[in-house]
Amino acid sequence: MYDMLEIEQVDEYAIDATTASQIGQLLQESFPAYPQDRIYFRQVPTFRLIAKSGDEITGQVGIDFRIMNNDNQLLRTFGIVDLCVRESARHKGIAAALLDRAESIGRKHGIDFLILWAQDKAFYEKRGFREVSNPCRWLLIQNHQSHGLVHRRFGEGLMVMRLGKKEWQNGTLDYLGHIF
Ligand SMILES: CC(C)(COP(=O)(O)OP(=O)(O)OC[C@H]1O[C@@H](n2cnc3c(N)ncnc32)[C@H](O)[C@@H]1OP(=O)(O)O)[C@@H](O)C(=O)NCCC(=O)NCCS
Repeated sequence: MYDMLEIEQVDEYAIDATTASQIGQLLQESFPAYPQDRIYFRQVPTFRLIAKSGDEITGQVGIDFRIMNNDNQLLRTFGIVDLCVRESARHKGIAAALLDRAESIGRKHGIDFLILWAQDKAFYEKRGFREVSNPCRWLLIQNHQSHGLVHRRFGEGLMVMRLGKKEWQNGTLDYLGHIF
């Protein structure tokens, strides 16, 4: 675990220009094809968790609070978006600490599931997520334009962590919005 780690929770609408610029650099560093003119890919998240070492941002994750329809049961979910850590600060437990914080906020506020799409499934499996393979429905957004509804399964990598009492169902997962 990272001893000196400070994690701030910031509402997306309240992020100031200096913080946005640092987050932008981190996103550029972490995701090769990330848009250069903004700090979100398709749409803004609800809030972010930002890991800091002094004034330097060392890691961040966006959290999208969303009601989803999972096989006709409504779930309160946190979508986990763009988790990343500065290259020089990796392997010190910062990403794990950000996920732990998202989990504890979710548990405190009656969130049923954390949901994400993973490139590295093993990383999340070790931290309590499991892969699911529901058929999905979502709003396709590209470059600030809506292009209609997509109905399909992800090839792989859709992962969930149960926080509440509700059981995950295997029928259609309707995102009721864009994917993250
Ligand atoms: C994926 C990513 C967020 C991980 O960040 P991180 O802060 O290095 O992650 P952690 O330190 O929590 O865990 C990484 C590994 O370091 C290990 N680790 C954690 N603390 C450690 C310590 N003190 N000493 C040695 N190893 C440690 C963890 O066990 C973990 O290994 P494991 O997955 O085999 O268990 C980071 O590599 C990244 O930003 N990648 C680019 C963007 C990306 O791919 N994001 C994920 C999108 S799905």
